[in-house]
Amino acid sequence: MTTHLPTILMTGGNGRLGSELRALLPQIMAPSSKELDVTDAPQVQEVIERVRPQLIVHAAAYTNVSKAEKERERCWAINVEGTRNIVAAANRVGAKLLHISTDYVFSGDEGNYREGDTPGPVVNYYSLTKLVAEEAARCAQRHLIVRTSFRPREFQYPVAFSDVYTSQDYVDIIAPMLAEVVTHALEIEDQMLHVVTERKSVYELARRRNSEVREGRRAEANVALPADVSLNTGRWQQIRHSWSKTS
Ligand SMILES: NC(=O)c1ccc[n+]([C@@H]2O[C@H](COP(=O)([O-])OP(=O)(O)OC[C@H]3O[C@@H](n4cnc5c(N)ncnc54)[C@H](OP(=O)(O)O)[C@@H]3O)[C@@H](O)[C@H]2O)c1
Repeated sequence: MTTHLPTILMTGGNGRLGSELRALLPQIMAPSSKELDVTDAPQVQEVIERVRPQLIVHAAAYTNVSKAEKERERCWAINVEGTRNIVAAANRVGAKLLHISTDYVFSGDEGNYREGDTPGPVVNYYSLTKLVAEEAARCAQRHLIVRTSFRPREFQYPVAFSDVYTSQDYVDIIAPMLAEVVTHALEIEDQMLHVVTERKSVYELARRRNSEVREGRRAEANVALPADVSLNTGRWQQIRHSWSKTS
């Protein structure tokens, strides 16, 4: 998987996902948030013009969903303006943008969302910024938006909700799939892709790695959570199948 990679620059390389991707694809260049602060447009431009990557994996984000309700300006600056800065720089050097998005762009009323389904209305501020960021990412001349969802390797909370449905998985399961997407990103023609695993409740997911976890209900959360943001992965399965036939 690690051969013939184009020059790839990644934002958010020290985050949960970014760290796993760097371990899987060590050739990726991943400046720190100081070296490449996405909210600093001149710095973003300078770094990207210097590196001239063929692919930019944009995994940096403000991701604290409950804190975002209070730190709205900071969340907007990183998720929306940061993405705009990355897009402008990507377009300047002709790089393709692989933008990491989230299942939270959907309302969660229905579940099994396909790539072409209309997103929103979102249920919290973080989700709003990620939805607007997707629209910013679409302004990249060449782009692939990947909606995904993952948790740290361990389920760290004492309670897990059995009335919240998701197709997210642990980051050590999701990151290898995203590494495949990164590796093939320049060949993928689709502009939107859902990369997650099967639908299950958060409680069911939690029990896989934490037998002590208590079953809870969504109403206990300190922030509004969507009820069912499971994503349909038919397109991803098809793409993966086509790779297995050609390899
Ligand atoms: N975690 C989830 O449940 C989940 C679910 C769906 C989608 N996603 C998406 O997946 C992506 C990665 O999420 P994650 O959980 O890995 O995030 P994370 O662990 O919170 O890491 C965020 C990363 O973004 C960097 N960052 C923050 N502000 C920045 C700035 N101004 N300039 C440059 N870098 C900045 C951080 O840098 P520092 O290390 O210096 O702080 C960190 O490396 C995000 O787009 C997120 O929206 C996450």
